[in-house]
Parts: sequence; C-alpha cells; structure tokens
Amino acid sequence: MTAQALAVTNVRAPGRDGACDLLVEGGQVRELSPHDPKAEHAAFRRIDGRGLLLMPSLTDAHAHLREPGQEWKEDIASGLAAAAAGGFSNILCMANTDPVNDNEAVTRLMLRRAKQAWPHGPRLFPIGALTVGLKGRELAPMAELREAGCVAFSNDGEPVADTEIFRRAMEYAADLAPVIDHCEDPFMAKGAGANEGAMSARLGLRGQPDAAEAIQVARDILLAEYLNVPIHLAHVSCRRAVELISAAKKRGAPVTAETCPHYLLMTDAALLGYDTMAKVNPPLRTDADRLALIDALRAGVIDILATDHAPHAAHEKETPFEDAKNGISGLDTALAALWELVRQGRLTPEDIVTRFAWRPAEIFGLPVNRFTPGDPADFLLFDPEDSWVVTPTSLRSKGKNTPLLGQPLTGRVVLTAVGGVVVHDITSATGA
Ligand code: DOR
Repeated sequence: MTAQALAVTNVRAPGRDGACDLLVEGGQVRELSPHDPKAEHAAFRRIDGRGLLLMPSLTDAHAHLREPGQEWKEDIASGLAAAAAGGFSNILCMANTDPVNDNEAVTRLMLRRAKQAWPHGPRLFPIGALTVGLKGRELAPMAELREAGCVAFSNDGEPVADTEIFRRAMEYAADLAPVIDHCEDPFMAKGAGANEGAMSARLGLRGQPDAAEAIQVARDILLAEYLNVPIHLAHVSCRRAVELISAAKKRGAPVTAETCPHYLLMTDAALLGYDTMAKVNPPLRTDADRLALIDALRAGVIDILATDHAPHAAHEKETPFEDAKNGISGLDTALAALWELVRQGRLTPEDIVTRFAWRPAEIFGLPVNRFTPGDPADFLLFDPEDSWVVTPTSLRSKGKNTPLLGQPLTGRVVLTAVGGVVVHDITSATGA
C-alpha cells in the first residue's frame, strides 16, 4: 500500500453544493471541485463515489488501546483496525496501560507497534501520564514523554484528587502539551457504576451524582483561569458540567471539552436489566443531560466528540453489574451511531466534520484536512443509506462490549484514507 493518485468522483461533501470530485496526489489534496462527468482522470485510480458522502477522516482524542499489558482486551493492531473501519485517521491513546505510559520506553513501544501494524496509519498519538503510575502523587517526566512523542497528558481513569499536585502538573505541562482531565470527585464517585437518580434507586445500584463530575469541572476551570493554562475536559456527561463550561467560556477561560456518542444517544434507562454493556464511567445520565449535551455540542460549548473507546473482554462484562468493568467499545461504530442524530435532524453532517475532525486536530496540533490544496489526504467515504446490524464479528476491535450489539444502524464508513493511502475499503462489497 502506497499513496496513489486518486480521483474520487461524484461524491457529496458537507458544506458544498452539488456533486464533487476529489483529486489526491502525493498523499495530499490536489483539489476538490464540482463534479465533471467528462473528466477522465487517466493517471488516477478512480473511485466511483456515487451516492456517498465525502468527509475528512476523524480524529479521536480519547481511546484506550490497552497495549502494553492488557492485550486480551485490545492491542494496538486491533485498535487501529477498528479505527480504520470507523473512519479515523488520528487516534490519541490513553496512558492507563500496564505498565502505565509514564516513561519514554512505553511511549516509544506504542509508536513502534503502531508503525509495524499500520505503517500508513491510522496514526497513533500517545497521551502520557500526568503522574507516575497514575497514582496522583508525583509528576510524570512530561518533558521526556513529550520528546518521545506524547501529544497530551492525562490521568484518565484515575483522576488526581490532590489539587495542589494537579495545579503543579498543569503548570509543568503548560509549555509542553495540553492536559486532559477526567472530571470526577474520586470520593463521591467511588464504586458507583450508575448515575445517581431515579434509575439507580429503582435498580438498587450505588449511584454517582452529576455533582461529582461538576465539582471537578469547576475546580479545573478555576485552575485554568487562575494559572492561565489551558485544560481539556474529557467525556463530559451532564448538564451541570455544560452550564459551568458555558459560563467559563463566556469569561474567556482557556477551557475545551469533549463528549462521547454514547452520552448523546443513550440514557441510564439502558441499565434496565442490569446491562453491563452500558456500564461506563462517567455513567449514562438522564434525557435532560443528553439533550443539553447535544445543544452544547452544536453551540460549540462542547468543542469535540471523542469515543472513550474502552474495550474489555467478555469475562469482564459477563459478571454481576457491580463487578463489571466500566467502558464501551466505540471506534467501529461511532460515526454510524451518531448518524442517527443526523437522521433525526439534531446534528448536521457539518457538525460532525467540525466536532469530530477539524476541532480535535486543532486542539492537539495534528494534521487537518479542510480539502484545500496541499492538505493531507485524510478522508472517508460514508454510505448514509447502508443498514447493518452490529454483531461481534462486524467489529474489528477485540472489545465487543457495546450496548449497540444486535441493533441496526443506518450509515456506514465504506472507505478510509490516511495521507492518500486507502486503509479500509468495502466500497466494492457495497456495490459503490
Ligand atoms: O468507562 C471508562 N473506561 N471510563 C474510564 O475513565 C476508563 C475507561 C477504561 O480504561 O476502561
């Protein structure tokens, strides 16, 4: 597989009127222009995009790829396979591996594994630990991690409880790379796998109040403003947090935020029947939270979408609810699942391009394709009419843990290209 000259003809593209032709050369966009049915594009490999939607491929700022150390859940090769199938060209992977990515040897190993398995991409960008071993006591060697290739720092999964240490970590990271924080008061949230409310009461589950998230969001906003150091808030799940972020942004606070497809599509009603597939941290919340998040995403209060791809093995989910691991496998299905919101008129294709491709690349300083000449030819083709059912074998990820199992989705990524190299292609299978 090398970067070929490609002519992707007769596609529709969000924000453009009429059908378009995309020409790619040397791994870069040559032009995106109105469709010319007479053009022969003789020197180009032609891809007939009739009926398909062309978008820049996606950047996921939040994935758990489990290598090193937990390869029974996922490894870098399988995680990037899921990324390619899901339409992603850039994946930021979290530091809660075993050993933790808190030193350059782990970062370099991750980068090496990615290059071996997927030499042309999807590209892997490690996120370094904020504290040694994610223990929240000692700062990780962030300069060393940055030098080795980390593009952000986070204690995701193990939020830093000690605000003085968190403050020092933000100051230290300021000249290096953005800090991503998993916002959760670790004491209030401890051991709770459900949102605290009517549903947790009904099911008899220990609940995690939305205030546990919002308290930490407030702390982080105050620190970001006080220190004038940016902070990125991971997987925001509730209205209370949205309100704090909205007010902070109005004051000009250096804050960005993400939410995930599952918080826009599901509520804690998914826990009825004690379905461990829907157990995730932060937990699925109420419909009012869900609708507030959709509005916030459209308004840009929430800057980006991210998957929080958290693959687990079957035996880690086929347990009593309280014992099951938190997390949803999301790379394979993210775009197709979100398409339901486009079909409902709640999101537009432009929202998806802005929030899942352009903004995350901007925030983390990664390659970005706006289809202007010379941009990296990172793109996907999406068939908005293709209906399919999510089954374990339809997922490239080793993690089959998604509440979407057995559900029909309409819309499917049929081709992904990274730097002009096609890394996923089922166009012929779908008759395009
Ligand atoms: O649901 C989650 N799973 N939330 C996290 O913060 C961590 C993640 C994981 O690593 O499984």
